[in-house]
Amino acid sequence: MSKVILGIESSCDETAIAITRDGVLLCNVVSTQIDVHQKYGGVMPEIASRLHTENILIVLKEALEKSKISLSEIDAIAVTRGPGLIGALHVGMQAAKTLALTLNKPLIPVHHLAAHIYANEFVTPLKFPLLAVIVSGGNTEFVIMKDHLQFEIIGETKDDAIGECYDKVARVLGLGYPGGIPVDRLAQTGVHTYKLPSPMLKDGYDFSFSGLKTNIINLVNNAKQRGEDINVANLCTSFQETAMDVIISKAVKAAQAFKAKQVIIAGGVSANSYLRKNIVKEITALGIEVTIPPMWCCTDQAAMIAKLGEYLYDISLFAPLSVSVDPNWMINDFDKF
Ligand code: KG4
Repeated sequence: MSKVILGIESSCDETAIAITRDGVLLCNVVSTQIDVHQKYGGVMPEIASRLHTENILIVLKEALEKSKISLSEIDAIAVTRGPGLIGALHVGMQAAKTLALTLNKPLIPVHHLAAHIYANEFVTPLKFPLLAVIVSGGNTEFVIMKDHLQFEIIGETKDDAIGECYDKVARVLGLGYPGGIPVDRLAQTGVHTYKLPSPMLKDGYDFSFSGLKTNIINLVNNAKQRGEDINVANLCTSFQETAMDVIISKAVKAAQAFKAKQVIIAGGVSANSYLRKNIVKEITALGIEVTIPPMWCCTDQAAMIAKLGEYLYDISLFAPLSVSVDPNWMINDFDKF
């Protein structure tokens, strides 16, 4: 019996629907709102919800056409329940509930970050114990998995997420939104000349990025006041290497301490060139496998929602239609709703 899962993602500024059949991706439609939010220098939650509402049925129609799957062939609807923007999450959830009700099929709530981990299964099967380095606009955390669907958070940011820090640094340097891509691009052309603090380098597996961010904002503002020039490329390089070296050195320690068989990176910031190159170098030097997701898996999409949805379907982790979204859902509570 084949298993067809329809996945829906709407946690931030991408409206996305994907369909898998027995693990094979049949379609992966993503409608991004990034152009609209760019004008405001960040995602405007109210506008995001409105655009999801406008786009979701168009995306659904395209997904069905591309996959050549009819609604009656779908076995379950998997949907992002959190974390994310509350209004944005609601749009995907209501669409999923409507499909589940009218098709009389199970509704599967999916944790967005757990799905980012499972996106790596499009590259290679997960191997346990596994260390997941989750780096995104809203989260920075290390998760240990001893087996499928077992998530233990061993470290997390105490303040800003790494992606948020990239976005703020880009803003003070006038590089636009989202900031990760232009900062990464410039960092590849510069030299590490600015001395910046390496936050919580020695303290376990937790992170703190707000001090580093404030340090750069002050450095730029002080230079402006004194009429001094900033070498933007060099500052981007110094920031990138300082921030990423903290993450990489903690990943090396955690991979050894938890005897990881595989290290994976997940989330929007896993597109970062320095992180991708250097985490591979450092972790493979330990004889541990590293999986780097392809670029299409780094950004938000619903292929990962359908992929994790398959595992949850197998354990019948279904929700009643009264289920709601949770903008602060923790990964270790992925089965509680
Ligand atoms: O996971 P994601 O798509 O969304 C949320 O967490 O909401 O991550 C988006 C984040 C943004 O902060 C963006 O600036 C960052 O990922 N990002 C990058 C790069 N590409 C995107 N950060 C560093 N280097 C990159 N190449």
